[in-house]
Amino acid sequence: MADHVDKKNSAKPTTAAGKPTLRVAMTGAITETYQGDPEQLIKRLNELRGTEIVAWLQYKHHSYMAVSMAMPGVRAEFEEHAAQEEHHADMLGERISQLGGIPVFEPFEIGQLAAKDNVTAKEGATMEDMVRVDLAMERQQIRLYQTLIREVAFQDPTTRRILEDILIETEHHATEMQNLLDRTAPLEHPGKT
Ligand SMILES: [Fe+2]
Ligand SMILES: [Fe+2]
Repeated sequence: MADHVDKKNSAKPTTAAGKPTLRVAMTGAITETYQGDPEQLIKRLNELRGTEIVAWLQYKHHSYMAVSMAMPGVRAEFEEHAAQEEHHADMLGERISQLGGIPVFEPFEIGQLAAKDNVTAKEGATMEDMVRVDLAMERQQIRLYQTLIREVAFQDPTTRRILEDILIETEHHATEMQNLLDRTAPLEHPGKT
């Protein structure tokens, strides 16, 4: 029985042209019915993980800086987003590990991977600036998640589900930052409508 299963699991799926589609050992959660390219996916998921860790850092920084500023509740909003970005990084890390990869953990590499996806930590001099750079970051992540979700399509339903769950929260964050920006801008620039 065990021999039969092992033999079956060692068979590598191929494309119509006979090219191997799977270069990572099919063990654990990865079976012969898996249709994704784990190596390529691990790379993309690690880039996204980089953007999430940068997002966590940025929101944490903004929460420290927001202490002395007006706008009650904004600091709590930054804190809440930071915790959710950390959770997104965890979700990606767990999936990378399931696919046989190593979740990125070197700070320099994290920054490099995020920058590759056009996400870099931004400070923001005023409350309005902070919210504006947070909104821009969320919008960039929305583009990244939507793109990868479409690429993954039906090849790897679990990864797609994880990406979709993160996208839902990312769009929620973007909406909240937009609402905050709409409220903050007139306060910082009373003449502006
Ligand atoms: Fe996130
Ligand atoms: Fe977010």
